[in-house]
Amino acid sequence: MICIGIEGTAEKTGVGIVDSEGRILSSVGKALIPESGGIHPREAAEHHAATIVPLIEEALSESKLHLNEIDLVAFSKGPGLGPALRTVATASRSLSLMLKIPIVGVNHCIGHVEIGKLTTGAIDPVTLYVSGGNTQIIAFDSGRYRLFGETLDIAIGNCLDQFSRSVGLGHPGGPKVEELAKKSSTYIKLPYTVKGMDLSFSGLLTAAIRKYESGEAIEDVCYSLQETAFAMLVEVTERAIAHTKKVEVLLCGGVAANTRLREMLSIMSEEHYADFYMPPIKYCGDNGAMIAWMGQLMHKNGLVTDIEDTGIIQKYRTDQVDVPWMKSSER
Ligand code: ATP
Ligand code: FE2
Repeated sequence: MICIGIEGTAEKTGVGIVDSEGRILSSVGKALIPESGGIHPREAAEHHAATIVPLIEEALSESKLHLNEIDLVAFSKGPGLGPALRTVATASRSLSLMLKIPIVGVNHCIGHVEIGKLTTGAIDPVTLYVSGGNTQIIAFDSGRYRLFGETLDIAIGNCLDQFSRSVGLGHPGGPKVEELAKKSSTYIKLPYTVKGMDLSFSGLLTAAIRKYESGEAIEDVCYSLQETAFAMLVEVTERAIAHTKKVEVLLCGGVAANTRLREMLSIMSEEHYADFYMPPIKYCGDNGAMIAWMGQLMHKNGLVTDIEDTGIIQKYRTDQVDVPWMKSSER
């Protein structure tokens, strides 16, 4: 059984091909890089429309497969930008109808967790998923992936991107903030907002911009922004570990590229005798392989979608999805 997965929740189009054993036969992608400002949903949709077909061709040639050897289509059903999701769903439906093969719509966030497990060997981790659009602390419990914490406003990646744009460093902000933060060790006090198990980054963003505008050195502000935001993320992940008693920590999403975050999370994991895992960078950010692998897991468990039920869900929640394939590995 060969599954092709199409990802397109935001500005990156991804196409991956994965077999039923979890071998990644190909994973290719193309990101839309805006000339200025953030991502416009319509532009993301146009980008997917222009790139899906060439990326399918590229994925087939990378995996040395012909289109008629594909047995299943999986697509990112949500959460994400409406126009972007609709373009991906339309392309996937066309492929399913044309090839007369089943189709399955998958939850993007769970895709991150599952590709993380597949590529690292983690079995039942507490996952910190941090990207431009999402900030979630996820762990399996009673048949579903539950949210042990999430952002109440903007995602951590979005916070770094908005800060970077506001101070004239451009997009994407994460790598720029990281580079400047490395040049400082002067901590400026910024608001630390953990509410129960949830997080908030908008007050921190505004305060960091104000500090810069009031004349603080950019390196010091970047350092303090990272230290504050990452300490918040690590605190909630730590509490999830203590609560669930799980013994693995998995970091994924585009912000996982940050070495300081990795360092802080791996120190915390060690203190709790938990193993720390991170997928190769290629599988940390959005990718088609994670959608294809989710397709395989869902198909094996009889969760194939009728074509009439291939509608998108913009606010598709992680804990909305039954996860029957985890039963055997539940600790
Ligand atoms: P999603 O759809 O899952 O929300 P996304 O569209 O945000 O994903 P990703 O590639 O997962 O895409 O993440 C991009 C984010 O990662 C951006 O906000 C970017 O600033 C951030 N990022 C990239 N590199 C780094 C880094 N070194 N440090 C911190 N953040 C980083
Ligand atoms: Fe993502």
